[in-house]
Amino acid sequence: MTPSTPSNFQKIQTNAGTKTVEEFRTYTQDEGTPARVIEHYRDMRRFQTLEFYERMEKKYSFENGAYRKLMTIEEAFVELENYIDASDPDLDLPNLLHLLQTAEGIRKANHPDWLQLTGLLHDMGKIMFLWGSGEDGQDGYSPNGKQWALGGDTFVVGCRIPDEAVVFPEFNELNPDMHDERYNTTHGIYELNCGLDALKFAWGHDEYMYRMLVANDAKLPREALDMIRYHSAYPWHDKGAYEHLMKDGDFERMKWVQLFNKFDLYTKDGDNELRGDKMQELWPYYKGLIEKYGLGGKLKW
Ligand SMILES: [Fe+2]
Ligand SMILES: [Fe+2]
Repeated sequence: MTPSTPSNFQKIQTNAGTKTVEEFRTYTQDEGTPARVIEHYRDMRRFQTLEFYERMEKKYSFENGAYRKLMTIEEAFVELENYIDASDPDLDLPNLLHLLQTAEGIRKANHPDWLQLTGLLHDMGKIMFLWGSGEDGQDGYSPNGKQWALGGDTFVVGCRIPDEAVVFPEFNELNPDMHDERYNTTHGIYELNCGLDALKFAWGHDEYMYRMLVANDAKLPREALDMIRYHSAYPWHDKGAYEHLMKDGDFERMKWVQLFNKFDLYTKDGDNELRGDKMQELWPYYKGLIEKYGLGGKLKW
């Protein structure tokens, strides 16, 4: 093992995968969705409010040079080794493996290297578990840790949660903001056609990682930053919600997020050759991309 390679690469094994497209993203209370996933979404709907978002925004601020820890990407990967996503019905694998699967899927499809790197980085925002607690939905240490402010499909806070576009719409009424007339209308706190970037999606790894990359002057194109910032916004990119809040150009941007999403989702099956030794082989290539896009040194997290 080389010292710069995340140490868990050699331990990771995958099972041969056999899932069909319809078998991904099954979210119903009666069709075999794991109880932990249902609970995750119930909590997320109960606790992700505008006030919570604003509290997290302060806690994870990069303003005026603020950060919580200086780490290289490799060091962050090492921290993420034992983090397992509790919100995802399709993924019981270490997140690191998912990131490499996504990146390799994009590479095999001959997409540009910045898009491959986006695949590698897109979920790294889950690193917030280092500073989080179960109370705030950011416990990545316990086997059944509360992770409703790390991952899961996001929705816009500060306006009505669209029943027709979210998983488990029956939990929407549990959201305190949906009983507050400032926030429970279709526009809520937003102006009509205010544009995608004015929206506050439920706080999680997407928003944090976007802010982190901007704070570290990543040389990634805007499309890459969009994919990272909005990939969990399924009600928006998959169900067409929030159309009234979009402005010119936002639909073009959505197409990139949708392209990315195919790789994020359908590479989660175990059918690949990314076993430990293969990962050792791949790492120098991705290390090169990390450096090329300005993320080679110690970064602010
Ligand atoms: Fe993600
Ligand atoms: Fe992902």
